[in-house]
Amino acid sequence: MAITTAKRPADLYESRKGEFLVSTDRSRLDLNLIHHFLTGCYWAKGIPRKTVARSIEHSLCFGMYNADKQMAFARVISDYATYAYLGDVFVLDPYRRQGLGKWMMQCIMAHPWLQGLRRWSLLTRDAHMLYAQFGFTPLKAPERYMEIHNPRVYSPTAVQE
Ligand SMILES: CC(C)(COP(=O)(O)OP(=O)(O)OC[C@H]1O[C@@H](n2cnc3c(N)ncnc32)[C@H](O)[C@@H]1OP(=O)(O)O)[C@@H](O)C(=O)NCCC(=O)NCCS
Repeated sequence: MAITTAKRPADLYESRKGEFLVSTDRSRLDLNLIHHFLTGCYWAKGIPRKTVARSIEHSLCFGMYNADKQMAFARVISDYATYAYLGDVFVLDPYRRQGLGKWMMQCIMAHPWLQGLRRWSLLTRDAHMLYAQFGFTPLKAPERYMEIHNPRVYSPTAVQE
């Protein structure tokens, strides 16, 4: 049977709420802002700018904007058929606790290319109750999961170790 080549996800998936816009338009993303946040956060500390750029290039990215100024981000790594990984979710501090993180999650979960998947996964240190509202649960069978985790991959001495 021939494999049909599905189109890449539509570049433009947008939703508006008051003065805020969620968009998957990669050209709108503020790489400096995203890198600045991620290189200081607990899960990607020290990540190089070029690594962030590469991750954006190969992900379905969701930016949130207030008058064209980016203030939130998330990205999804997926085959758009069976599986999706959600990562690098953040809302800048001044915009937190007003429902914007939940709205961005609603936009992500409603994206037409991310429907009917067999599995979603993510990792979080303390935002479990955010994701639980969208159906995420703790691992039902953690003994089935394996990983390669290199927590020092971005540290300056990592190559010598
Ligand atoms: C997590 C984050 C994206 C939430 O964004 P937000 O806009 O403040 O979230 P909202 O206002 O939409 O509300 C989040 C909901 O999740 C709940 N929640 C649970 N754990 C939370 C946590 N650690 N942080 C924020 N919200 C949390 C809140 O109580 C709220 O639910 P409720 O309205 O039913 O009470 C934001 O706090 C953030 O960027 N944090 C720093 C980066 C981070 O930790 N990202 C997640 C990595 S997995």
